[in-house]
Amino acid sequence: MSDKFFITTPIYYINDVPHIGHTCTTLAADFLARLHRQQGDEVFFLTGTDEHGQKVAESAEKENLSPQAYCDQIAPRFDQAWKSLNISHDFFIRTTDPRHEQIVSDFLTRIHSAQDVYKAKYEGYYCIGCEKFITETELVDQHCPIHPPEKTVHKSEDNWFFRLSKYVPKLIELIENDQTNYIYPEGKRSEVLAKLKAGVNDVSISRESVKWGIPTPWDPSQTVYVWFDALINYYSATQFVEGKSDFWPASLHLLGKEILWFHTVIWQAMLLSANLPLPHKTYTHSFYMIDGQKMSKSLGNVISPGQLVDLYGVDGARYLIARSFPSENDSDVGLARFTEKYNADLANNLGNLVSRICKLGAGQDFGPINPSLFDHSADSTKNPSKSPFNKGDFNTLIEDLKFDEAISYIFTKFIDSSNELLNINKPWTLSEDDPTRLDCLSTCRSNLLQAAHCLWPFMPDTCDKITALFSGPIQPLPAPLFPRIK
Ligand code: MSP
Repeated sequence: MSDKFFITTPIYYINDVPHIGHTCTTLAADFLARLHRQQGDEVFFLTGTDEHGQKVAESAEKENLSPQAYCDQIAPRFDQAWKSLNISHDFFIRTTDPRHEQIVSDFLTRIHSAQDVYKAKYEGYYCIGCEKFITETELVDQHCPIHPPEKTVHKSEDNWFFRLSKYVPKLIELIENDQTNYIYPEGKRSEVLAKLKAGVNDVSISRESVKWGIPTPWDPSQTVYVWFDALINYYSATQFVEGKSDFWPASLHLLGKEILWFHTVIWQAMLLSANLPLPHKTYTHSFYMIDGQKMSKSLGNVISPGQLVDLYGVDGARYLIARSFPSENDSDVGLARFTEKYNADLANNLGNLVSRICKLGAGQDFGPINPSLFDHSADSTKNPSKSPFNKGDFNTLIEDLKFDEAISYIFTKFIDSSNELLNINKPWTLSEDDPTRLDCLSTCRSNLLQAAHCLWPFMPDTCDKITALFSGPIQPLPAPLFPRIK
């Protein structure tokens, strides 16, 4: 029986343009979604846009558009960016979808019925960039450290509050227990636990002054706080997209480190209050940096996914993001470094190997592919590298978002070992029917087929091409897979 695998990305603020910070999360989700589909799981991969709130309303006003017209104009940019990277999301959710709005309203009603809301005055600072309240201790030079000073405003208004504090003991219990913990990697689990134990205030969940939002069901003079609205997308999609109701709870929420608290504390408490099952796992990654600074529109230092596709092709772009993915630590990236990596790994190594084997083995038929080639329970003894390849270890690296290590493993086992074999046997010096030459080419062919199978979640088109080239009699290569970049 196939398992269900429901994976999500954060829904991105509509007022930004997609950059490779957003791209790395969406691609990470794609790698995992593809790996699970390859294993026969039933996958639901969800991404989308976060369209309500003060900052979207302000951006629309600047463009002289109604907020809805503004959102309708911009949302497709994200969907298109993901399609141009061959990202295989099953649904693109927009929080202005009336079906989502209805479910937010129902969800809030459940929290209200559980007596988990009360009215109180909010007095303090708010960052419109983050769309969140910030405490005085979080301020740096009187403003939010990741957004320009004008984004930090002082607010004083009557709001509805959610009894977050009520759920703290339960959350601590769940996180401390290895069987029920949902926070990965480990460092984030201890960070959240320490913060929970230090004491937590209730949170405001509605806005008196913000008009662009979903009306609070029991008090329409206020709108639902944009984060409450946005987090519910993960659940609402399963309820209104046809055939997905069995996918809740989510298998995995992927997110960047600045939104850890929302996903691991607030969202979980909301679900407890609404009496719904909690997601199995959240994985929080770090940031892409450019020259030591976080990449963001406000800093004007963004690299767009389109730039990468134009320079390196779709699979080149996907590969470079996988290789530089900021899992546990921030990752400093730049175009010069990307080009160097592309040339070294894709043009000179993998691409060149494919082209050599196509040339040396042209027309040669090494027989049908044995399906056991891909089960990897036994290793090809002809690999010069000694330890056997273990597909389970490789899959675990991907599940842990260690994409760089996962790909390195495949390169060492199948690509580098083939190059080594060619250098040792020099088949081009041997006659066409020499058994050493045939054996060497046949091993390289099966190594390439195995590499293509394993690397498929990262570079699906390239891997399909490699599989087609080597599945029957070896085909001539019509054009280099990865032309060298000057
Ligand atoms: N709309 C909220 C999320 C709501 S989810 C219920 C939001 N949107 S965002 O547009 O700001 O996107 C944040 C996400 O984009 C981060 O969590 C991360 O996944 C990704 N990234 C944005 N900039 C990034 C980097 N520089 N590096 C890596 N990822 C980053 O927050």
